[in-house]
Amino acid sequence: MNLVTNHHLGTVILFKCEKQQLKRLSARKGKIALLTTEPPDKHDRLLAGAFLFERRRREVKKCLLVGMVLTLFISLAGVTGCVEARPPAEEAAPAEEETVCIDTSLRSLAQVHNMQVGAAVQAGLLATNPRYAETLRCEFSMLVPENAMKFEHVHPGRDRYDFSTADAIVDFAEANGMQVRGHTLVWHSQLPDWLTEGNWTRDELIKILQEHIMTVVGHYQGRIVAWDVVNEAVDDGGSLRDTFWLQGIGEDYIKLAFCWAHEADPEALLFYNDYGGEGLEPKSDTIYELIQSLLDEGVPIHGVGLQMHLSLDSYPKAQDVATNLNRLSVLGLEAHITEMDVRIQQPVTEEKLNEQAYVYRDILQVCLSAQNCKAFVLWGVTDRYSWIPLFFPGYQAALIFDENCDPKPAYYALTDVLAGH
Ligand code: XIL
Repeated sequence: MNLVTNHHLGTVILFKCEKQQLKRLSARKGKIALLTTEPPDKHDRLLAGAFLFERRRREVKKCLLVGMVLTLFISLAGVTGCVEARPPAEEAAPAEEETVCIDTSLRSLAQVHNMQVGAAVQAGLLATNPRYAETLRCEFSMLVPENAMKFEHVHPGRDRYDFSTADAIVDFAEANGMQVRGHTLVWHSQLPDWLTEGNWTRDELIKILQEHIMTVVGHYQGRIVAWDVVNEAVDDGGSLRDTFWLQGIGEDYIKLAFCWAHEADPEALLFYNDYGGEGLEPKSDTIYELIQSLLDEGVPIHGVGLQMHLSLDSYPKAQDVATNLNRLSVLGLEAHITEMDVRIQQPVTEEKLNEQAYVYRDILQVCLSAQNCKAFVLWGVTDRYSWIPLFFPGYQAALIFDENCDPKPAYYALTDVLAGH
């Protein structure tokens, strides 16, 4: 097998160098332990982190430089950054060869813990951006379509379904031995106009939702490990959210949705998924009580998704997330971190990136320590294509790979946790 493919040369060299750096870092274990053992306060932690990350970054940069110079020499016209590829040249391109993934990738480190690490993906980028696809393949063991399975995409007409985009993602996952989370069957957002502008009776809406769920879950039967069946049904004050579905069907829509999904794919794990209920707050209490009462009624629900869209301005205490995970576990429920990102208010500074790394590290640590937390999924791969700048103006840099698909301090924080450093 050719270890170094044309346009992935830089990456491979980086990966190889990283491996050496990891070895060197563990040789300096004494010093690192000194720096990481419970510094007395947050400021100290940040300083210690800044030091470690800076050293690691400098080492990796050296490797990258070598990679880039060599890449130039060998003169390859492909893509080394996280930008989309140019349209193919007239002559046929040489067949793609696969980059060899490092054995210190998130994916391989997480395997030891029997945990999936995942990312939300955009099918268009999978097809056009080799660096993006390679990063996914090497670093992640679970994919979730960021938009492709949502109602408006998959069910664009009353009697019309379009699975082409979502199928491409599921095919890619299967070709690379990855699991897929299905997202999402019932949500108040990204609904098609034909649905929201119709004048439906309750019975008609029940029929539409039933058909939708049976068709979509049925289409992927046996291929989706977990479905976000109901998404964001609780509002920020801790009441049931006043949505299209609540207004049209009443609160029974929640249990009906789970029952239909179970009928269509009895093997799939069925999740309730929400944001802002990760720690201990009124919203997480409402979610807990909602799920508990569904379980009491015998509704087939197997897990709760903690979206984990965090900001450096406010994030839950790790201890509170641990307590929340534990009470869900007592109910017999699995938990997934389903959409993690940590947005940073501009300007992005090195100090903020290091603090972000600690937030990622703490949440992964909590998930690893909880016996029911089986997946850790990020809402995107690279800052270049994250939803954050569009939805939270003034914020950016929320993911673990930067605009060029290069790893950020948060990436190293996650690999360090998984490697037990
Ligand atoms: C977001 C996507 O990232 C955007 O591309 C899209 O325009 C809007 O939805 N909670 C969810 C996700 O459950 O589906 C949302 O995804 C982010 C918030």
